[in-house]
Amino acid sequence: MLPPLSTMQTILTESPEIAASILNEGGVVAFPTETVYGLGAAICHPEAIGKIFRAKGRPSDNPLIVHIHDTSALPSVAREIGSDAWKLIEKFFPGPLTLVFRKSPDVPGIVTAGLDTVGVRCPSHPVAHEFLRFACCPVAAPSANISGLPSSTSWEAVRTDLDGKISCILKGGPSDIGLESTIVDCSAEKPILLRTGAITLEQLREIVPEIELASVHDKNEPPKSPGLKYPHYAPSAAIELLLPGDVAGGGPHTAYIGLNAPPPGISTAKTCRDLKEYARELFRFFRQCDDQGIRVIYCELPENRGLGRAIRDRLLRAAGLS
Ligand code: TXA
Ligand code: MG
Repeated sequence: MLPPLSTMQTILTESPEIAASILNEGGVVAFPTETVYGLGAAICHPEAIGKIFRAKGRPSDNPLIVHIHDTSALPSVAREIGSDAWKLIEKFFPGPLTLVFRKSPDVPGIVTAGLDTVGVRCPSHPVAHEFLRFACCPVAAPSANISGLPSSTSWEAVRTDLDGKISCILKGGPSDIGLESTIVDCSAEKPILLRTGAITLEQLREIVPEIELASVHDKNEPPKSPGLKYPHYAPSAAIELLLPGDVAGGGPHTAYIGLNAPPPGISTAKTCRDLKEYARELFRFFRQCDDQGIRVIYCELPENRGLGRAIRDRLLRAAGLS
């Protein structure tokens, strides 16, 4: 018989200072941000970074985003920050934007999965800000969920996935945005949008008009953002995508989320007031459906612009279509 998996006691706290002291001793700590909850370790504790990959079951070739409390910490993690990047920083930091730069030699290779670039983010969430301020160095953090499952948008979702596998959960309220940060690669000549999010392509282009969307990944080339090749955001229920007006088969164990009224006969439905609510509720709804034993979730595909572009991206991935 196999020995039981070792578990640790996961401390729950509302104190950023206590959570940071656990992180500073080499612990792995989940913390709230305005996008989704992160699972952090201090980059000056490379052995703790390894624990993040084990707790999540994350492939080791998928790099982590480094979180800083203030732009003054940027030169300690990133090099060659060009004028377009500074414009984006001035407009959108702190906030739901990650920028990719050449990495500083002080960032250990385990954080960036061996890449010579690093993703950097400065969250605006006040609890995240305090936590990062008390941290002894910048904090590497992926989303705080088991790899492949929907990101956690509440501390309760983090506990469901990671209780007994991590040192601490810093409790905050539910994440306001509900989708992961927008990622822009600023490490090459032309900035490229790698992942859509709450900062939209349209908003980015107001500041840097030449930003392009990453081209669809050619299977023979290494992906620009390694995480994008893995299945993502998938609940256990099957995802069926609907355009407004499409007919869905209702019945028991079916659910619907979208902006328009649900098709008839659906057992659990969430009609969202606007795209912001759709984004905020999406991953929470996926998890709720799994708890209720829903078999099919019908999701309305919003139009491909503004925040709708980011919601579509997550829906297509959850449905295994992207
Ligand atoms: O909102 C967010 O970004 C959240 C919070 C916690 O900050 N974090 C998050 O991390 O979503 P994660 O690991 O779930 O997604 C990060 C994505 C992955 O697809 C990864 O491959 C990509 O960012 N990434 C990280 N570093 C990169 C780099 N140097 N170059 C290209 N892509 C990178
Ligand atoms: Mg993730």
